[in-house]
Amino acid sequence: MGMRQDIEDLAKEAEWQIREHKWVPSANDHTVAARVAADLRAVVGTPQSQQELLAVTRLGHLREALAAVTIALAYVHGPMAWFLGAAATALTPILHWRAMPARHGHTFGATWAKVFGELFWQSLSNDARLAADFDAAMSVHAAAVGPWVAGARDWGADNRVADIGGGTGGTLRSTLARHSHLTGTLIDLPETVARARDNSPTPDEPTGTTDTAARMTFCPQSFFAPLPPGHDVLLLAHILPDWADDDCVRLLRRCAEALPDAGSVVVVDRVVSVDSGEEQLPVSQRDLAMMVVLGGRERTEHEFCLLAAEAGLELLRPSLPAPHQGLHLLEFGKRQ
Ligand SMILES: C[S@@+](CC[C@H](N)C(=O)[O-])C[C@H]1O[C@@H](n2cnc3c(N)ncnc32)[C@H](O)[C@@H]1O
Repeated sequence: MGMRQDIEDLAKEAEWQIREHKWVPSANDHTVAARVAADLRAVVGTPQSQQELLAVTRLGHLREALAAVTIALAYVHGPMAWFLGAAATALTPILHWRAMPARHGHTFGATWAKVFGELFWQSLSNDARLAADFDAAMSVHAAAVGPWVAGARDWGADNRVADIGGGTGGTLRSTLARHSHLTGTLIDLPETVARARDNSPTPDEPTGTTDTAARMTFCPQSFFAPLPPGHDVLLLAHILPDWADDDCVRLLRRCAEALPDAGSVVVVDRVVSVDSGEEQLPVSQRDLAMMVVLGGRERTEHEFCLLAAEAGLELLRPSLPAPHQGLHLLEFGKRQ
């Protein structure tokens, strides 16, 4: 039975209970219902206002709306709690997806691809305004994260680094700027690489960019195709959460094939903490965003290691936490 049918059945059951006076909604029930309705109106707005928004913003609103319903669930009690509790059970695949083991859980597919008929990355290539918004968001991110990545590990023994899915190049430029012996290759989809070539460094990026530009080459291709050999470090920053497990293994296998025996695959990503008492709502919201837009997911360190193991890679040393955003640097090498 589909989720829509489950919800309709629950609504009918609730109407029957009210009609038969088995459930007389209390003043508190009415207050909670009114509050949820007001919260949803505030988040979602009118149909007219929704039409004027970018599709990606509308998806953001959907995520906020789900969060508002979830928060309301925490406040209710009495028969309404039964109704919403049962509704939440019908919504379990969405609200509790983290409980599912990564290797065997559904990926749910990407709603974006179902709605727009193409992957999010393809939409970025076809829609200049969406691409400009995305690049702006990622370069703010790279301006904060790039300098940390450049300083977090010892690059002394490395000569060539490839930033795989490197976007418009902020993280790679930070790394080259800090380590003058390094040369770098930016690998990304052709349209993104074209934007990276045009991209002038942001004021937040380190100086020395003229020199770094001379040490940077561009490689427009899919990272699911064979990767160019000869790089000591393959950097994957903010890539794996965008993809379902099988796609991650395909990509990591490409990395393993291209990696010299002593080389490293450096993964920079948020790592879900399972035991630190970390506030779970932001994790769930990011997880939901990854799932809805891209068909990906957030992962624990153990889940990253399982994907790497399937591609013939193993963690070389304990992961390094960044001072911000729950980011970690995980360094993998070929399994000996
Ligand atoms: C979330 S962004 C990360 C950008 C950059 N690594 C950073 O940390 O700022 C994901 C990147 O993956 C790239 N990408 C998506 N699919 C790709 C593919 N099949 N091959 C190469 N790059 C791809 C996108 O164009 C985008 O630049």
